[in-house]
Amino acid sequence: MASNQEMIGREELDDLEAILSITNSDVDEVQHIIRANSDTLFTWDYEQSRQPLIKLYEKAKTSQWNASTDLDWSLPVDQAELVLANAQANVNGPFSGGLDLKGTPFESWTDDQWIQLGIEGQNWTLSQFLHGEQGALICTAQIVETVPWIDAKYYAATQVMDEARHVEVFARYLDEKMSGHYPINAHLKMLLDDIILDTRWDMTYLGMQIMVEGLALAAFGFIHQLTTEPLLKKLLRYVMSDEARHVAFGVLSLKEFYTELNSAEIRERQEFAFEAAVRMRDRFLQQEVWEKMGVDVKEAMSLVIQDEGRVMFQSMLFSKIVPNCKKLGLLDAGDGWLRQKFTELGVIQFEDWIDTGEEYAMLDEVSKDRDAAIA
Ligand SMILES: [Fe+2]
Ligand SMILES: [Fe+2]
Repeated sequence: MASNQEMIGREELDDLEAILSITNSDVDEVQHIIRANSDTLFTWDYEQSRQPLIKLYEKAKTSQWNASTDLDWSLPVDQAELVLANAQANVNGPFSGGLDLKGTPFESWTDDQWIQLGIEGQNWTLSQFLHGEQGALICTAQIVETVPWIDAKYYAATQVMDEARHVEVFARYLDEKMSGHYPINAHLKMLLDDIILDTRWDMTYLGMQIMVEGLALAAFGFIHQLTTEPLLKKLLRYVMSDEARHVAFGVLSLKEFYTELNSAEIRERQEFAFEAAVRMRDRFLQQEVWEKMGVDVKEAMSLVIQDEGRVMFQSMLFSKIVPNCKKLGLLDAGDGWLRQKFTELGVIQFEDWIDTGEEYAMLDEVSKDRDAAIA
C-alpha cells in the first residue's frame, strides 16, 4: 500500500513546510509544454448505445450560451466595495471565523491592508479558475482522442466548446474587471500535469471530471451564493450549469468502466483521488497572495489553517467530490481505504449529499432563462 510520503510527498497532511516547498519557479513562462503519451483511439463502432450519455449529449447541444451576448460586460466592478460587501462572509478572506489576532503581525493591519488583501484574493481566485478552465479544455480534448466509446467522444466534444467559453469568460473578467493576474498555483499545475500525463483514459476523467470539476462546481456555487456582484453572479450561474453536466459525464462514464476493473486497479483509482484531493486542498491556501502582501507566508498560513471559517470553506469544497466518489464505489472498495483518507481530510460528512449524476438537470440555467424569456 502506498504511503502518504509516496503519494503526496509528505506524511502529515498539514505539514506546512512541505506544502510551501512546492512553488511555481517559472512565473514568467508563456508556454508550458508536456509530452503526453496516450494512445489515440479511432472507433469504427458508430452505434450509440449508452442512453445516459446520449441524453447528456442532447442536453449539452441545447444548453450552449454565448459569453459575448448573454452577459452584460458593461457593468462596472468596484473591487474594494466588493471586499467590504463580502466582509461578513468573505469567501477569499482569511480569518472569517473570528480568530484572535493579538500578538500576530495582523494585529496592526490597517483597513487599507485588509482591503488590499481582499482584492488580491479576488485576483488570485479568478486567475486560478482561469488556469483550471484551460486544464479542463486540454483534458477534455484529450478524452475525445482517448476514450473508446463514440457516445463519449460526442459528449466530450461539446464539453471542449464549453471549456473554451469558460476560459474566455474568466480571461475577460480578469482583464476588464480585476486588477491583476496571478500565474498558476504550483499545486494546481502539478495536479494538471499528472492528469494529462497519465496514459489511462479513465484517469483523465477521474482527475478532471470528478476531482477538479467537482471541486470547481462546489467553489463556484459557494461564491455564486455569496457574491453581490451581478456580472460574476450570472457568469458563475451559467458556468455551473455546464460544470454540472461535465461532472455527470465523469460519473456516468466511470460508473460503467469501473465494473470492469479488479481490486488492484480500483485501489490505484482511490489513491489517485486522494492525491488529487490533497493537491487541491493545498492550492486553496493561496500562498502567492501572502507573498504579494509581503508577510511571512508560513506564519500567515499557520494562522489561516486554524481559522474556523477557512476550515468550513475548505471542507465544503469537497461536497460534490465525496458523494460522487461514493456513487462510483470508490469510497468503500477494498477495505474502505478512501473512506479512511477522506475522514482524515475531514470531508467524509458529505458522503450522502446528492451526487451530480442526478443533479445536473436541476442546474440547467440556460434552459430556465430561455423558458422565462418565452413566457
Ligand atoms: Fe469549465
Ligand atoms: Fe468543466
